Amino acid sequence: MHQSLKQQAIDILRMNDRGGYTVPTARLYPYQWEWDSVFAALGFATFDRDRAWEEIETLFSGQWDDGMVPHIIFHKTDPDYFPGPEMWKSNTVPPSSGHSQPPVAASAMLTMMQTGTDMDRERAKALFHKLYAWHRWFHTYRDPDNTGVVGIIHPWESGRDNCPDWDIGMGRIVVPDDLGDLPRRDITHVDPSERPTAEQYNRYLAIVKFGHECQWDHLEIARNGPFFMVDPCVQFALMRGDRDLAELATEFGEPGIRDEAEAWLKHSKAGCDSFWSDDVGGHVAKDLRTGGLSTAFTNASAMALYADAGSPDQQKRLTAEIAAILDHCSFGFPSWDPRDAQFESRRYWRGPIWSVVNYMIGIGLSEKGETALAERLRNDTRRAVETSGFFEYFDPLTGEGLGGKLFTWTAAIHLAWAMGDDMLQAG
Ligand code: DGY
Repeated sequence: MHQSLKQQAIDILRMNDRGGYTVPTARLYPYQWEWDSVFAALGFATFDRDRAWEEIETLFSGQWDDGMVPHIIFHKTDPDYFPGPEMWKSNTVPPSSGHSQPPVAASAMLTMMQTGTDMDRERAKALFHKLYAWHRWFHTYRDPDNTGVVGIIHPWESGRDNCPDWDIGMGRIVVPDDLGDLPRRDITHVDPSERPTAEQYNRYLAIVKFGHECQWDHLEIARNGPFFMVDPCVQFALMRGDRDLAELATEFGEPGIRDEAEAWLKHSKAGCDSFWSDDVGGHVAKDLRTGGLSTAFTNASAMALYADAGSPDQQKRLTAEIAAILDHCSFGFPSWDPRDAQFESRRYWRGPIWSVVNYMIGIGLSEKGETALAERLRNDTRRAVETSGFFEYFDPLTGEGLGGKLFTWTAAIHLAWAMGDDMLQAG
């Protein structure tokens, strides 16, 4: 009998479970990735609460002493992935990469607590101070001048690796002569036309080299590293996360942390004007070294409502932009504006749609009363899976599945949101 998509999604989460953590998909990504893992927890939360919390607990077992939660934790060495621990040289236990990824855990933990039992509350409480330390790390090391806007030190920190957003910052990176030929593994697992180019990879590794050469001194990297840009996705995830951290602090009787998180949020809201583009009609990536702004609307721009960022006029304008872009797609929401010449419908973050970002955009739209747009996105997310299966990402013009197959976060978002069960609606 044909298995239901719901059952397939559950099976994918179980299949990608490596004992306490899930891999995003076998072979292409054989380790624990930060934001993949948090979204995996939301998926598990629909059918196995204990396993959902275990996912986040394992993630925090890789937290650095300074509070950072790294973007990859290398629990068991796997030669199928490059760059592995030998390239990062972060000297941490467990071994990990040297930077973070969008801080989505506070929001997931609050959602799980609000839809759960005393057990969920206890597990959230046990992680609360680690969560707070991670947010404090972002504000300290990614906004060293206290501007209200955090930077990212690597396109991988955004999770939106090869988005054209990063081309301005990446263009200034000088590739060291001694980098050699990179033994890339990703293009042996997936069609190279759906992955970043060789030129982009050289620059990614140039940043990693700078990082380990200064022993991952994050203030040094923020001030003098090869790349430092504002990512609307990280900024908006952090703002939503600070809001949710404040709510958790209230629940757990921590007024000092609540006040601090609320102050961060207020300061961040004020900072958002600095990367608003009137030309684009949305918040865009910004090179913090040169002040240069990116040139098109992305799925990260569309997350502004999720963070309640922007003035009422800006929110009106960006909502109109969301609607206009959806008119150009069969499946929303594209990672780059399809009306722009740089749009590539099949290449990773240069056009394709991603379930997890749709989830955050959809929540934001729905909270602002934009019900039709929110439902359009939820339906598109589900239809993409119905059309092609649980792929890593999808072509916005055709719904064709791209990148990795049997993908954890696509399955998780199907369970937690796209099916429309409303089981895990954010609070
Ligand atoms: C990869 O290997 O492509 C990852 O996205 C890096 O985080």
